[in-house]
Amino acid sequence: MASDEHKQLATIIKETHSRLRNDCRIYGPKEAWNRHVARTDDLQKYAISMQELATAHWDNTNLKSNENTYCRISWIKKQCYEYFMNGGKEKFIEREIDIAKKNNIDLNENNSVWKIIPALTNEYYDGDIGKRIKLIDVGSCYNPFGDDDNFDVTAVDLAPYSDRVLQCDFLNITIGSATIISNDSSTVLQLGRDSFDVCVFSLLLEYFPCPEQRYLCCEKAYNLLKNNGILFIITPDSKHVGANAKIMKSWRFVLAKLGFMRIHYEKLRHIHCICFRKCINKNVALRWTMLQTFPCYIRSGRIVKWIS
Ligand SMILES: C[S@@+](CC[C@H](N)C(=O)[O-])C[C@H]1O[C@@H](n2cnc3c(N)ncnc32)[C@H](O)[C@@H]1O
Repeated sequence: MASDEHKQLATIIKETHSRLRNDCRIYGPKEAWNRHVARTDDLQKYAISMQELATAHWDNTNLKSNENTYCRISWIKKQCYEYFMNGGKEKFIEREIDIAKKNNIDLNENNSVWKIIPALTNEYYDGDIGKRIKLIDVGSCYNPFGDDDNFDVTAVDLAPYSDRVLQCDFLNITIGSATIISNDSSTVLQLGRDSFDVCVFSLLLEYFPCPEQRYLCCEKAYNLLKNNGILFIITPDSKHVGANAKIMKSWRFVLAKLGFMRIHYEKLRHIHCICFRKCINKNVALRWTMLQTFPCYIRSGRIVKWIS
């Protein structure tokens, strides 16, 4: 049973989310977001509560490790090790090459580096050995990946819990040719295109009150990732695995439209854990969407309904 302190911390989180949603209804998403980011004291209170909840109170749920389940952070780390150190990436490159061949998709298109695929893939694999995995944790709060030497972590948050996290409003950050950090090493001024192996959205997307903001974040993740890079989306849901299957499928559909292929999915007790891979050629991911029928999600080439 939740302690009084646990309940108090959870109330601070819920109230912040509910005020942002209400403001969004009253003022619209842009104005509501501007009002939200201006409440710096409240955002700091949120950061302290979130860190305390995640590190001290979630022991008995699979949001944190226990004897027979993974916490979200361990789940992400495990998938990264499998993908980057245990042949996962090679397996999915081969799968993409296979799908491309069967569907007459040219992997060389827009990717001159892939001109002679077999030779260059070998070179590419060798290039990875011994390298740290470049990971951006968006909405990191307290930098839960920071203590793992396998990762070169860029932890960013609207309201950082500590100085191990850089200040950045991901919704409004510019993506350019390189990552630029302020002179005092506190703030991200720009993020580098095609420069990360992994992008993590752990309990981030549901923070945003409107679907367009979530979509914008996913689009930014796509631009930040290298080809074959992976995006993790962790989203809370205490219902059984099938209860929100349609919503999960809509995520998959929209992400595929961006050029992501879903490569892992697991429902833990209170969360969905999803891993998407940025395909070498978008058309490989798009191919899956063509086999689906979602009249309500896309109209006139625009997404009219996503996660509500
Ligand atoms: C529910 S917490 C999740 C913290 C952590 N990722 C975890 O899994 O425990 C959501 C975090 O996202 C951050 N956040 C929300 N909008 C953001 C934005 N536009 N840019 C960066 N961080 C944002 C919040 O400040 C908050 O720390």
